[in-house]
Amino acid sequence: MTQTAETAVHLDAVRLVRGNRTVLDDIRLTVPTGSVTAVLGPSGSGKSTLLAALTGELVPATGDVRLFGEKVPQSSRELLAMRKRLGVLLQGNGLLTDLTAGENVALPLRTHTDLPSDVIDALVEMKLHAVGLRAAKDLYPRELSGGMARRVALARALALDPPLMIYDEPLTGLDPIASGVIMSLIARLNKTLGLTSIIVTHHVHETLPVCDHAVVIANGRIVFDGTPEELERSDDPLVKQFLGGEPDGPIAFDSSARSAA
Ligand SMILES: Nc1ncnc2c1ncn2[C@@H]1O[C@H](COP(=O)(O)OP(=O)(O)OP(=O)(O)O)[C@@H](O)[C@H]1O
Ligand SMILES: [Mg+2]
Repeated sequence: MTQTAETAVHLDAVRLVRGNRTVLDDIRLTVPTGSVTAVLGPSGSGKSTLLAALTGELVPATGDVRLFGEKVPQSSRELLAMRKRLGVLLQGNGLLTDLTAGENVALPLRTHTDLPSDVIDALVEMKLHAVGLRAAKDLYPRELSGGMARRVALARALALDPPLMIYDEPLTGLDPIASGVIMSLIARLNKTLGLTSIIVTHHVHETLPVCDHAVVIANGRIVFDGTPEELERSDDPLVKQFLGGEPDGPIAFDSSARSAA
Protein backbone atom coordinates (compact mmCIF):
# COMPACT_ATOMS: atom_id res chain seq x y z
CA MET A 1 0.00 0.00 0.00
CA THR A 2 1.28 3.50 -0.72
CA GLN A 3 1.78 6.03 1.98
CA THR A 4 -0.43 9.08 2.39
CA ALA A 5 -1.15 11.74 5.00
CA GLU A 6 -3.86 9.36 6.18
CA THR A 7 -1.23 6.88 7.33
CA ALA A 8 -0.23 6.87 11.00
CA VAL A 9 2.13 3.92 10.88
CA HIS A 10 3.83 2.32 7.93
CA LEU A 11 6.20 -0.65 7.93
CA ASP A 12 7.85 -1.76 4.73
CA ALA A 13 9.78 -5.02 4.39
CA VAL A 14 10.80 -4.90 8.04
CA ARG A 15 12.90 -7.65 9.59
CA LEU A 16 13.27 -7.66 13.38
CA VAL A 17 15.98 -9.63 15.10
CA ARG A 18 16.33 -10.43 18.81
CA GLY A 19 19.64 -11.93 19.83
CA ASN A 20 20.63 -13.83 16.70
CA ARG A 21 17.09 -14.91 15.85
CA THR A 22 14.79 -13.32 13.27
CA VAL A 23 11.52 -12.86 15.19
CA LEU A 24 9.56 -11.15 12.39
CA ASP A 25 10.36 -11.03 8.70
CA ASP A 26 9.06 -9.07 5.71
CA ILE A 27 6.53 -7.13 7.76
CA ARG A 28 4.45 -4.77 5.62
CA LEU A 29 1.79 -2.92 7.53
CA THR A 30 -0.22 0.26 7.12
CA VAL A 31 -2.21 1.66 10.04
CA PRO A 32 -4.70 4.33 8.90
CA THR A 33 -4.93 7.53 10.93
CA GLY A 34 -7.95 7.43 13.25
CA SER A 35 -8.22 3.65 13.28
CA VAL A 36 -8.15 1.22 16.16
CA THR A 37 -5.89 -1.59 14.98
CA ALA A 38 -5.53 -4.91 16.79
CA VAL A 39 -2.22 -6.72 16.43
CA LEU A 40 -3.07 -10.28 17.42
CA GLY A 41 -0.92 -13.33 17.79
CA PRO A 42 0.01 -16.14 20.14
CA SER A 43 2.41 -15.73 23.02
CA GLY A 44 5.98 -15.35 21.78
CA SER A 45 4.91 -14.52 18.21
CA GLY A 46 6.66 -11.15 18.33
CA LYS A 47 3.92 -8.65 19.25
CA SER A 48 6.02 -6.78 21.81
CA THR A 49 8.97 -6.96 19.42
CA LEU A 50 6.86 -5.23 16.76
CA LEU A 51 5.97 -2.47 19.23
CA ALA A 52 9.63 -2.05 20.13
CA ALA A 53 10.26 -1.19 16.48
CA LEU A 54 7.55 1.51 16.63
CA THR A 55 8.97 3.13 19.76
CA GLY A 56 12.51 3.05 18.34
CA GLU A 57 13.70 0.74 21.09
CA LEU A 58 14.59 -1.91 18.48
CA VAL A 59 16.22 -0.87 15.20
CA PRO A 60 15.07 -3.07 12.29
CA ALA A 61 17.74 -5.26 10.71
CA THR A 62 16.25 -4.28 7.34
CA GLY A 63 13.33 -2.20 6.10
CA ASP A 64 11.64 1.01 7.06
CA VAL A 65 9.38 2.02 9.97
CA ARG A 66 7.55 5.34 9.67
CA LEU A 67 5.23 7.17 12.05
CA PHE A 68 3.15 9.92 10.41
CA GLY A 69 5.44 9.74 7.39
CA GLU A 70 8.66 10.20 9.36
CA LYS A 71 11.22 7.49 9.73
CA VAL A 72 11.66 6.41 13.37
CA PRO A 73 14.93 8.12 14.30
CA GLN A 74 17.95 6.49 15.90
CA SER A 75 19.63 9.40 17.67
CA SER A 76 18.45 9.64 21.26
CA ARG A 77 17.60 13.35 21.02
CA GLU A 78 15.33 12.86 17.99
CA LEU A 79 13.89 9.73 19.55
CA LEU A 80 12.92 11.69 22.66
CA ALA A 81 11.08 14.23 20.49
CA MET A 82 9.26 11.47 18.60
CA ARG A 83 8.23 9.71 21.80
CA LYS A 84 6.31 12.79 22.92
CA ARG A 85 3.95 11.99 20.05
CA LEU A 86 3.59 8.39 21.12
CA GLY A 87 1.55 7.27 24.13
CA VAL A 88 2.64 3.84 25.27
CA LEU A 89 0.94 1.56 27.76
CA LEU A 90 3.52 -1.15 28.30
CA GLN A 91 2.87 -4.77 29.18
CA GLY A 92 2.41 -4.37 32.97
CA ASN A 93 1.55 -0.86 34.13
CA GLY A 94 4.97 0.53 34.93
CA LEU A 95 3.52 2.83 37.60
CA LEU A 96 6.09 4.10 40.09
CA THR A 97 5.03 2.70 43.46
CA ASP A 98 6.49 5.58 45.50
CA LEU A 99 4.37 8.15 43.66
CA THR A 100 0.63 8.77 43.90
CA ALA A 101 -1.62 8.28 40.89
CA GLY A 102 -1.55 12.03 40.27
CA GLU A 103 2.23 12.19 40.53
CA ASN A 104 2.57 9.29 38.10
CA VAL A 105 0.41 11.10 35.55
CA ALA A 106 2.36 14.33 36.12
CA LEU A 107 5.70 12.63 35.44
CA PRO A 108 5.77 12.95 31.62
CA LEU A 109 4.56 16.55 31.90
CA ARG A 110 7.34 17.41 34.34
CA THR A 111 9.94 15.59 32.24
CA HIS A 112 9.00 16.85 28.78
CA THR A 113 7.53 20.32 29.38
CA ASP A 114 8.38 23.37 31.47
CA LEU A 115 4.77 24.13 32.32
CA PRO A 116 4.16 25.78 35.72
CA SER A 117 3.03 23.40 38.44
CA ASP A 118 -0.54 24.77 38.67
CA VAL A 119 -0.99 24.07 34.95
CA ILE A 120 0.43 20.57 35.41
CA ASP A 121 -1.99 20.01 38.30
CA ALA A 122 -4.91 21.04 36.12
CA LEU A 123 -3.77 18.76 33.27
CA VAL A 124 -3.36 15.83 35.68
CA GLU A 125 -6.94 16.36 36.90
CA MET A 126 -8.17 16.40 33.29
CA LYS A 127 -6.33 13.22 32.34
CA LEU A 128 -7.54 11.37 35.44
CA HIS A 129 -11.05 12.64 34.73
CA ALA A 130 -10.78 11.26 31.16
CA VAL A 131 -10.27 7.77 32.58
CA GLY A 132 -12.93 8.24 35.27
CA LEU A 133 -10.52 8.41 38.19
CA ARG A 134 -10.33 12.00 39.35
CA ALA A 135 -11.02 10.87 42.91
CA ALA A 136 -7.97 8.57 42.90
CA LYS A 137 -5.43 11.37 42.49
CA ASP A 138 -3.85 11.00 45.92
CA LEU A 139 -3.91 7.20 46.12
CA TYR A 140 -0.76 5.14 45.77
CA PRO A 141 -0.61 2.27 43.23
CA ARG A 142 -0.89 -0.32 46.05
CA GLU A 143 -4.24 1.24 47.00
CA LEU A 144 -5.66 0.78 43.49
CA SER A 145 -7.37 -2.27 42.01
CA GLY A 146 -5.78 -3.80 38.90
CA GLY A 147 -8.32 -2.11 36.64
CA MET A 148 -7.85 1.28 38.32
CA ALA A 149 -4.06 1.00 38.09
CA ARG A 150 -4.37 0.22 34.38
CA ARG A 151 -6.52 3.33 33.92
CA VAL A 152 -3.96 5.48 35.76
CA ALA A 153 -1.27 4.12 33.43
CA LEU A 154 -3.58 5.00 30.54
CA ALA A 155 -3.96 8.56 31.85
CA ARG A 156 -0.19 8.82 32.12
CA ALA A 157 0.26 7.59 28.54
CA LEU A 158 -2.20 10.31 27.45
CA ALA A 159 -0.50 13.07 29.44
CA LEU A 160 1.27 14.72 26.50
CA ASP A 161 -1.72 14.45 24.15
CA PRO A 162 0.01 12.04 21.76
CA PRO A 163 -1.75 11.46 18.41
CA LEU A 164 -0.79 7.77 18.47
CA MET A 165 -1.45 5.38 21.36
CA ILE A 166 -0.02 1.90 21.58
CA TYR A 167 -1.20 -0.63 24.12
CA ASP A 168 0.71 -3.82 24.89
CA GLU A 169 -1.62 -6.42 26.42
CA PRO A 170 -3.90 -3.88 28.14
CA LEU A 171 -6.12 -6.64 29.58
CA THR A 172 -3.54 -8.85 31.30
CA GLY A 173 -4.62 -9.72 34.82
CA LEU A 174 -8.02 -8.02 34.59
CA ASP A 175 -11.39 -9.66 35.19
CA PRO A 176 -14.04 -9.55 32.40
CA ILE A 177 -15.73 -6.44 33.81
CA ALA A 178 -12.49 -4.44 34.19
CA SER A 179 -11.49 -5.70 30.72
CA GLY A 180 -14.70 -4.36 29.24
CA VAL A 181 -14.14 -1.00 30.95
CA ILE A 182 -10.60 -0.71 29.57
CA MET A 183 -11.55 -1.72 26.03
CA SER A 184 -14.46 0.70 25.83
CA LEU A 185 -12.27 3.43 27.32
CA ILE A 186 -9.61 2.82 24.66
CA ALA A 187 -12.26 3.02 21.92
CA ARG A 188 -13.91 6.12 23.40
CA LEU A 189 -10.64 8.00 23.84
CA ASN A 190 -9.66 7.13 20.28
CA LYS A 191 -12.87 8.65 18.99
CA THR A 192 -13.26 11.69 21.23
CA LEU A 193 -9.59 12.73 21.17
CA GLY A 194 -9.12 11.90 17.47
CA LEU A 195 -6.30 9.43 18.12
CA THR A 196 -4.94 6.41 16.31
CA SER A 197 -4.65 3.32 18.50
CA ILE A 198 -2.76 0.07 18.17
CA ILE A 199 -3.69 -2.69 20.59
CA VAL A 200 -1.32 -5.62 20.84
CA THR A 201 -2.94 -8.61 22.48
CA HIS A 202 -3.86 -12.26 22.44
CA HIS A 203 -7.29 -11.35 23.91
CA VAL A 204 -9.03 -11.68 20.54
CA HIS A 205 -12.65 -11.81 21.60
CA GLU A 206 -12.49 -8.80 23.92
CA THR A 207 -10.51 -6.71 21.44
CA LEU A 208 -12.14 -7.30 18.05
CA PRO A 209 -15.45 -5.57 18.90
CA VAL A 210 -13.71 -2.19 19.40
CA CYS A 211 -11.38 -2.47 16.38
CA ASP A 212 -11.79 -1.53 12.77
CA HIS A 213 -8.58 -3.17 11.58
CA ALA A 214 -6.95 -6.43 12.62
CA VAL A 215 -3.57 -7.98 11.92
CA VAL A 216 -2.53 -11.48 12.98
CA ILE A 217 1.10 -12.44 13.34
CA ALA A 218 2.26 -16.04 13.61
CA ASN A 219 5.31 -18.02 12.59
CA GLY A 220 7.36 -14.84 12.11
CA ARG A 221 5.12 -13.04 9.65
CA ILE A 222 1.78 -11.34 9.11
CA VAL A 223 -0.74 -14.06 8.28
CA PHE A 224 -3.84 -11.84 8.18
CA ASP A 225 -4.54 -8.15 7.52
CA GLY A 226 -8.12 -6.94 7.19
CA THR A 227 -11.31 -6.05 9.04
CA PRO A 228 -12.52 -7.92 12.14
CA GLU A 229 -15.41 -9.29 10.07
CA GLU A 230 -13.00 -10.68 7.47
CA LEU A 231 -10.93 -12.17 10.27
CA GLU A 232 -13.90 -14.03 11.75
CA ARG A 233 -14.69 -15.41 8.29
CA SER A 234 -11.10 -16.38 7.43
CA ASP A 235 -10.43 -19.93 6.24
CA ASP A 236 -6.69 -19.64 6.79
CA PRO A 237 -5.61 -22.61 8.93
CA LEU A 238 -3.18 -20.43 10.95
CA VAL A 239 -5.90 -17.88 11.67
CA LYS A 240 -8.43 -20.57 12.53
CA GLN A 241 -6.03 -22.29 14.90
CA PHE A 242 -5.26 -19.01 16.65
CA LEU A 243 -8.88 -17.86 16.92
CA GLY A 244 -9.93 -21.30 18.15
CA GLY A 245 -7.06 -21.54 20.63
CA GLU A 246 -6.15 -25.02 19.42
CA PRO A 247 -2.81 -26.45 20.52
CA ASP A 248 -2.26 -28.49 17.36
CA GLY A 249 -1.96 -26.89 13.95
CA PRO A 250 0.34 -24.89 11.72
CA ILE A 251 1.41 -22.49 14.51
CA ALA A 252 4.47 -23.86 16.28
CA PHE A 253 4.18 -23.86 20.05
CA ASP A 254 6.99 -21.60 21.33
CA SER A 255 7.99 -23.16 24.63
CA SER A 256 10.82 -20.69 25.32
CA ALA A 257 8.46 -17.72 25.13
CA ARG A 258 5.81 -19.49 27.20
CA SER A 259 8.15 -20.31 30.04
CA ALA A 260 9.60 -16.77 30.02
CA ALA A 261 6.15 -15.13 30.22
N1 LIG B 1 15.62 -9.17 24.35
C1 LIG B 1 15.45 -10.34 23.75
N2 LIG B 1 16.51 -11.13 23.43
C2 LIG B 1 16.34 -12.31 22.80
N3 LIG B 1 15.14 -12.80 22.46
C3 LIG B 1 14.07 -12.08 22.74
C4 LIG B 1 14.15 -10.80 23.42
N4 LIG B 1 12.90 -10.33 23.58
C5 LIG B 1 12.08 -11.23 23.02
N5 LIG B 1 12.77 -12.28 22.54
C6 LIG B 1 12.19 -13.45 21.85
O1 LIG B 1 11.46 -12.98 20.73
C7 LIG B 1 10.26 -13.74 20.55
C8 LIG B 1 9.08 -12.80 20.52
O2 LIG B 1 8.92 -12.21 21.80
P1 LIG B 1 7.82 -11.09 22.10
O3 LIG B 1 8.02 -10.63 23.50
O4 LIG B 1 7.85 -10.06 21.03
O5 LIG B 1 6.49 -11.96 21.96
P2 LIG B 1 4.97 -11.56 22.30
O6 LIG B 1 4.18 -11.91 21.09
O7 LIG B 1 4.93 -10.16 22.78
O8 LIG B 1 4.64 -12.60 23.46
P3 LIG B 1 3.62 -12.42 24.72
O9 LIG B 1 2.24 -12.60 24.17
O10 LIG B 1 4.01 -13.56 25.63
O11 LIG B 1 3.87 -11.07 25.32
C9 LIG B 1 10.23 -14.75 21.69
O12 LIG B 1 10.69 -15.97 21.20
C10 LIG B 1 11.18 -14.18 22.72
O13 LIG B 1 11.78 -15.22 23.45
MG1 LIG C 1 4.40 -9.30 24.58
